[in-house]
Amino acid sequence: MEDNNSTCGPDFDFGQLRRFPDIEAANLFAHDATDELILNEAAAALARTGSGPGNGVVVVVGDRYGALTLAAATLHGLRGLRVHQDGLSGERALAANAARLDLAGAYTSGPLDGSLFAGARVVLWQLPRSLEEVAEVAELISAHADPDVQIFAGGRIKHMTVAMNTVLSRHFSSVTAGRAWRKSRPLFVSVPLKEGPASSFPRCEFHEELGLWLCAHGATFGGTKVDVGTRFLLEYIPAMRQDTETAIDLGAGNGTIASALAKARPGLHISATDQSAAAVASTLATAKANGLQDQIEVIRDDALSSFPAGSAGLIVLNPPFHVGATVHAGIALKLFAAAARVLAPGGELWCVYNRHLDYKQVLSKIVGPTRVEGRNSKFTVTVSTRVAGPAAETD
Ligand SMILES: C[S@@+](CC[C@H](N)C(=O)[O-])C[C@H]1O[C@@H](n2cnc3c(N)ncnc32)[C@H](O)[C@@H]1O
Repeated sequence: MEDNNSTCGPDFDFGQLRRFPDIEAANLFAHDATDELILNEAAAALARTGSGPGNGVVVVVGDRYGALTLAAATLHGLRGLRVHQDGLSGERALAANAARLDLAGAYTSGPLDGSLFAGARVVLWQLPRSLEEVAEVAELISAHADPDVQIFAGGRIKHMTVAMNTVLSRHFSSVTAGRAWRKSRPLFVSVPLKEGPASSFPRCEFHEELGLWLCAHGATFGGTKVDVGTRFLLEYIPAMRQDTETAIDLGAGNGTIASALAKARPGLHISATDQSAAAVASTLATAKANGLQDQIEVIRDDALSSFPAGSAGLIVLNPPFHVGATVHAGIALKLFAAAARVLAPGGELWCVYNRHLDYKQVLSKIVGPTRVEGRNSKFTVTVSTRVAGPAAETD
């Protein structure tokens, strides 16, 4: 596709989409050239699936904020689209955009499993950067979709590698790269091999030094590894507040923190929460693999939105500092504010972050008096204590 080709822009106004409730900022957008490229390349196949309610053979994976789903529904009159998005804020943004465009009934959101792809004829896929995530989706499509399924995948060229083609080729006999357009490239994937087990996820790995199994679905931060910052934070478990029966692992990922806390403190009940569907499923798998499922409750939620204010005695957090591919501090600040709201007076927020980030001031301002508990060559560990009333800016 050439740069000067027409796009579906004139027929679907991508500018009307919002990222809300995800972070909005001048340098963050609700759609990208990859969305337009995928839709253009898939146009003929989408048109062939026919329109009208309940056609149900088109699946959308990895839609950021609804651009793929809502443009496909609008441009081709499609209904019954099946959609999986890993992040809850993306799912909520799609719902909000759909409601505004009167398209709430055009699609259903679902988990990443075989039923998502059952009988699928066309798949639109914003490729993730993680090869593990590519592998998990590819396995499921190959095992469950129609044998004639056509996958129109795409991504930003800078985030794509030949290794992706290799992973896809394990599950499909036809994997072809298309022409780049505005720094995005399409991949056309078809002829599922339908070999092997339906899914090899979650994958689990035993970590001798922690005495814990860690399990991960493809889209989970860090996979089955122990994050280096988290490893440092875990050294401080003995110093964390003792006189509380409940704790929150905020942004649980593969469940390392929740499981380490549960193992160290058998009396503690832990709510492990993450906005990522893969993280939530991984944390649950990790808890079960370690026999800790009675101590750990797993909740998919965006920044503690379903947790009552002033209800927690201890929150432990290793915050993300990337939003997708964009470095943006907003997400960490959002999680600090969430922790401040949910902590009870006297409650503690324990945090680990890259040393160069220097979040101490901001934690003091948002949460309460903040102390640096530890520092190594790469990371800082802090504890912030919630005070009654507005947070004080102190040491
Ligand atoms: C740096 S990872 C830490 C994961 C895990 N705690 C560990 O130590 O390996 C940050 C986690 O925060 C999650 N996260 C990002 N935004 C979030 C949000 N708005 N609400 C809840 N969790 C979020 C990510 O999905 C990711 O799993």
